[in-house]
Amino acid sequence: MNIFPQSNVLQQLPKQFFASLVQNVQAVIAEGHDVINLGQGNPDQPTPAHIVRAMQQAVAKPMYHKYSPFRGYSFFKEAVATFYKREYGVTVDPEKEVAILFGGKAGLVEMPLCLLNSGDVVLVPDPGYPDYWSGVVLARARMEMMPLRAENSFLPAYDELPKDVVREAKLMFLNYPNNPTGATATESFFQETVSFAEKHHIAVVHDFAYGAIGFDGKKPVSFLQVEGAKDVGIEIYTFSKTYNMAGWRIGFAVGNESMIEAIHVLQDHLYVSMFGAIQEAAAVALLESQQCVAELVATYEARRNTFIHALRDIGWDVQAPAGSFFAWLPVPNGYTSETFADLLLKQAHVAVAPGIGFGEHGEGYVRTGLLTSEDRLKEAAWRIGQLQLF
Ligand SMILES: Cc1ncc(COP(=O)(O)O)c(C=O)c1O
Repeated sequence: MNIFPQSNVLQQLPKQFFASLVQNVQAVIAEGHDVINLGQGNPDQPTPAHIVRAMQQAVAKPMYHKYSPFRGYSFFKEAVATFYKREYGVTVDPEKEVAILFGGKAGLVEMPLCLLNSGDVVLVPDPGYPDYWSGVVLARARMEMMPLRAENSFLPAYDELPKDVVREAKLMFLNYPNNPTGATATESFFQETVSFAEKHHIAVVHDFAYGAIGFDGKKPVSFLQVEGAKDVGIEIYTFSKTYNMAGWRIGFAVGNESMIEAIHVLQDHLYVSMFGAIQEAAAVALLESQQCVAELVATYEARRNTFIHALRDIGWDVQAPAGSFFAWLPVPNGYTSETFADLLLKQAHVAVAPGIGFGEHGEGYVRTGLLTSEDRLKEAAWRIGQLQLF
């Protein structure tokens, strides 16, 4: 068999740090242990029944068996506009300011390809969702990190970024509610972001993947709620978390017309849009009752409360996340995020994600998902407590 080497650009893609974690977990399970896996970010609940029913009916419609319109059905984009108006009071033009995406991840990876040339600078949060790095590499762009520190509420401090980096920056990724820290943004931070981006002509991509998941009665702020946001950026929304549709692969981008047009141009070449039945079911998700979302958020909040209390009971000094379905927990003295994650896996049979996998500034933390029952979360805390580390 001939072996065909991968292109230079593929070889430069970051190695999937968490693939090795999955293997380690499998190895412990293969030894016969009951592992509580808090290391992943895969929603554990099914898609709400009314959305599944809409899909079942839509699949039977012959119109969807043909090619879909390249840039998505108008009814889908109109549903997005209705959703943004209803949820955030934001007006968007469905044809010019909305692009359908094959999941948020696809849009995030596409963005550098849409806007950047070789060597252009991208500002990326550290710690952050590793898929931002992939698009930067594919575009042969250059990544500069924006540290997210606990003392700054895990928001980037723009005035601390090196001046030459800011001068060169063309694109910036942000993500609140944040993966992995669980932090949320304030409207004033987004106002500061708009001014910063306007001043330095930086295109902002706000990843709003956890937009629905805010705790203590606080609804996470949309970047587009802030005046001037559409002049400098877009927001990327996904159905994966809000409606437990991670396997369906659908999301959308909303905001700046020129950025949306760039996504459309790239996608005109990559795809022939998305299966119409998925678009119809997704429109139902956006337009019909949001009771399922309220229930989901209540479930995550109850799990958060149970888990954080249980961890504090074993003496672990942890902060409760304000949003997302993750808790970002400080590693005790004497461990790195990897050695600590390894200890928890081998001795407590609890899998967590080492913070270093999310960037240099993730060191000193591990990320845990709230994606299992309260009983399992309590059990995980109890097992960790048995190690007498705190
Ligand atoms: C921060 C963040 N952004 C985007 C995504 C992508 O979600 P999807 O591609 O399922 O829409 C995820 C998924 O885990 C995420 O954690």
